[in-house]
Amino acid sequence: ARLDGVPCAVITLSDRASAGEYEDRSGPVLVAGLRKLGADVDDIEVLPDGIDPLAERLRTLSQQGVRLCVCTGGTGLGPRDVTPEALRLVADRSVHGLAEMIRSESAKHTPLAWLSRAEVVQLGAMLVFALPGSPRAAQQCMDILAPLLGHALAMLD
Ligand code: MTE
Repeated sequence: ARLDGVPCAVITLSDRASAGEYEDRSGPVLVAGLRKLGADVDDIEVLPDGIDPLAERLRTLSQQGVRLCVCTGGTGLGPRDVTPEALRLVADRSVHGLAEMIRSESAKHTPLAWLSRAEVVQLGAMLVFALPGSPRAAQQCMDILAPLLGHALAMLD
């Protein structure tokens, strides 16, 4: 379950956080969770909501050898919530089971989790997660995923 030395990235998708209108708190939650597992989180970014900037970053990160990219935000039903669409645009394959696990385990905390369009895809040797945007949801999803991440990445190699 450990991620010792695994190159990871964390990307927050938020128009307001990227404009500096508020502080991103979800990204740091994910960075801390990944570092606790031993991961090397060298790439930490805040992007505005939108398909193309994220899709381009994901392709670059995969080419640079990043193995795990965890995104937070933009998974809801609002008009600017398009993070899952960016993942699908670049995906080689979808990992439906992990997305369903995120929803079903999160629903033990709140029935609103069924509104999340959380997504998990494979892009080359990189696994990409789109998690909900609130810091609480980010923490809950980290706890749900932590036991499976190491094994999932070992299978992609
Ligand atoms: N998942 C978990 N684990 N915990 C939560 O509190 N909130 C839900 C859902 N998933 C939540 C969750 C709510 S209220 C919404 S609207 C969507 O995630 C928000 O996704 P977004 O912030 O990425 O748009």
